[in-house]
Amino acid sequence: MSQLHVINHPMIQHKLTIMRKKETGPKDFRQLLNEIGLLMGYEVTRDLPLRDIEVETPICKTMGKEVNGRKMAIVPILRAGLGLVEGLQSLIPVAKVGHIGMYRDEETHQPVEYFCKLPEDIDDRLVIVTDPMLATGGSACDAIASLKKRGCTNIRLMCLVGVPEGVERVQAEHPDVDIYLAALDERLNENAYIVPGLGDAGDRIFGTK
Ligand code: PRP
Ligand code: URA
Repeated sequence: MSQLHVINHPMIQHKLTIMRKKETGPKDFRQLLNEIGLLMGYEVTRDLPLRDIEVETPICKTMGKEVNGRKMAIVPILRAGLGLVEGLQSLIPVAKVGHIGMYRDEETHQPVEYFCKLPEDIDDRLVIVTDPMLATGGSACDAIASLKKRGCTNIRLMCLVGVPEGVERVQAEHPDVDIYLAALDERLNENAYIVPGLGDAGDRIFGTK
């Protein structure tokens, strides 16, 4: 069964609260999302296996640790998922980045895939899918299904804010995918927006309406 990890580190909670404020503009919103992306990355990569490696310091030889050959990819769900990429990349500079474009139809709230460009060896990588919002869960589930169709077997989902409905849907459709959130909010409203949430993440990152 997929695990839900809600990362309630004080610095993440502090930054998320500023992001929720309606008066926070795109520049600060992007900056905070970037910082949270890096902080959440610590938890998403917490269990990566290490191996021993000998290194030579200016003083002597010693044993150190390195991440054991696990190749990684970051796959943002466009557009809003892009906001979490830079922070994660500064933590995992060798990760390749793929892109899956999805938008929610405004009437039906169903996700529509419009773009997919992934590293060739994506099936051989640990994939971190990023999207700030896990609402109905439709976009995340379809993006994960798209990755599985291309052979991915090791996928984690990193979002900022989710609701029980979205979490349950991902867990039902993709029980092998762990979910990482900074907050589990109350519910969806009649427009399938997260309450209290932070509004439309893509619009707030990119200054669109
Ligand atoms: C938002 C968000 C998720 C999706 C979540 O994207 O970034 O991808 O909605 O909703 P769901 O869980 O109900 O599928 P949106 O469709 O607004 O596109 P955008 O990122 O381009 O703004
Ligand atoms: N997408 C968003 O950007 N915000 C929500 O609250 C729900 C879906």
